[in-house]
Amino acid sequence: MRSLGININTNVNGLMVSYNDEGPDGAPVVLFIHGFPLNKSMWNAQFEVLKTTHRVIAYDVRGHGNSEAGTEDFSIELFVEDLLGFMDTLQLGQVILCGLSMGGYIALNAIEKHPERFIGLVLSDSQCLADTPEAIEKRMAAIESIREEGAEVYLEQSIQNLFAEASFETKQIEIDSIKEMMSKTTAQSLCNTLHALSVRKETCSKLSELAVPILILVGKEDKITPPSVARLMLDKTQHSTLVIIEHAAHLANIENPHEFNQQLVEFVDRYFPSDKPRY
Ligand code: MLT
Repeated sequence: MRSLGININTNVNGLMVSYNDEGPDGAPVVLFIHGFPLNKSMWNAQFEVLKTTHRVIAYDVRGHGNSEAGTEDFSIELFVEDLLGFMDTLQLGQVILCGLSMGGYIALNAIEKHPERFIGLVLSDSQCLADTPEAIEKRMAAIESIREEGAEVYLEQSIQNLFAEASFETKQIEIDSIKEMMSKTTAQSLCNTLHALSVRKETCSKLSELAVPILILVGKEDKITPPSVARLMLDKTQHSTLVIIEHAAHLANIENPHEFNQQLVEFVDRYFPSDKPRY
């Protein structure tokens, strides 16, 4: 029996996972995976535009939002197991995956390992590359600073990198909501996830095997996963489209929801139309 609404708890392989599930029964399912160190509420604006036609689900990755962290060391592989376990618990057959940044890393690994479970892919502000030695060093320094001084300094620096310069003048509500999401992630989960991200494997070499429609979105001013790495994914995939979102950096769906949603809606309506009316 489906539970409908927000902040629903379910047990996935012994872990309490929190999720939102809205939209009509039987409609194509769009499953959203958030970035680091955020949570499922970052997709609220996308739920609003899709939920009359499509079933939309977003969950909190372990250690983020309201999901438990468990006791294991985090890894992208573990996050993929959680995703598949979550899909099984909700009895989701095949879904369209939409992941931002870390959510995209999880999505790419999931589709590589379980291609039969996914019919479409939206990659926002993400990449197929592994961390460079310099990036790994930065993550290690961040872990050390969080352990020694707490998370405040690290989170403040992260905010500066996430948003476009102009957004600091015009998007205070969005910035505050991202700060609020970040502040709920424990120092332990921040460090655990930073380590998982630093050792993740590249997925570029498998991109040409993906047989599903792919939409690649990236904020024009994204400094973390810039348009150049989005273009690399475009070049390596067969059924993909790239759209560069204006007036946005790393959080394209939050900084320019109008343009982001237009692209998202066009993509799902084109490849995964629903028989329910949009209003
Ligand atoms: C994210 O937004 O998920 C992170 O920026 C990913 C990363 O640091 O590689």
